[in-house]
Amino acid sequence: MIELKNITRTYSLGGETIYALNSVSLSIKEGEFLAIVGPSGSGKTTLANIIGGLDEADSGDVIVDNMHLAKTSDNDLSEYRNKKIGFVFQSFNLQPTFTALENVMLPALFSKMKPADRKEKAEKCLKAVGLEDRMNHKPSELSGGQRQRVSIARALMNDPEIIIADEPTGNLDSKKGQEIMALLRELNKRTDITLIIITHDPNVARLADRVIAIQDGNIAGLPHGRIAGSPGRQMG
Ligand SMILES: Nc1ncnc2c1ncn2[C@@H]1O[C@H](COP(=O)(O)OP(=O)(O)OP(=O)(O)O)[C@@H](O)[C@H]1O
Ligand SMILES: [Mg+2]
Repeated sequence: MIELKNITRTYSLGGETIYALNSVSLSIKEGEFLAIVGPSGSGKTTLANIIGGLDEADSGDVIVDNMHLAKTSDNDLSEYRNKKIGFVFQSFNLQPTFTALENVMLPALFSKMKPADRKEKAEKCLKAVGLEDRMNHKPSELSGGQRQRVSIARALMNDPEIIIADEPTGNLDSKKGQEIMALLRELNKRTDITLIIITHDPNVARLADRVIAIQDGNIAGLPHGRIAGSPGRQMG
């Protein structure tokens, strides 16, 4: 469903070229729960952002359900980000002046959904993460774990097929982190949502169907050009 072929992403800094990703190939199945681990600076966030259409590779192909992201128009790409992907970030990225309910409604603000339906859907998403009694609280009036649950509800608002979570438990204590992971895991099992989680936490990675380690911009232990998840298949 998600196919990365020889993805390279470089940054130029002071005449030096940094390979954030160096020819990464990876395939991720529909409904799979994939954990991405690796040292700081190894390229994990870069990889997630490229899959999510937030960043573009210098070379290589990202194909999601037959859609070549590099060949996709800006309009279609923002629709891809908005409809197909739900993002969850380490620092929650909630609007501080909006209530939980308003934050969750945001991704549907520019959709064709009627305001009343939008509200109903947002309430349903908040209920799904156990926050029906905190809908009118602002982020500053919520605990860290509750804030992250709001951001998961927001990610669910447009019924995404893929959730990309970059260190979703990174700012939470271990008990709250486990609750968030249990929630994401349950979503992944109950629906067909593909779950891609970046984590430093072995207890999080342990829950995944598959774990890949990124090191120096590539998948550790794989020769260039091999597709992780399809051992033995050589890129043509
Ligand atoms: N905007 C940028 N300009 C220059 N270099 C960058 C930029 N963004 C990332 N990099 C470099 O690309 C490499 C990969 O960064 P990335 O954020 O993907 O790492 P990461 O694995 O997510 O690290 P962490 O675990 O600390 O979040 C790093 O060496 C980083 O310094
Ligand atoms: Mg990162």
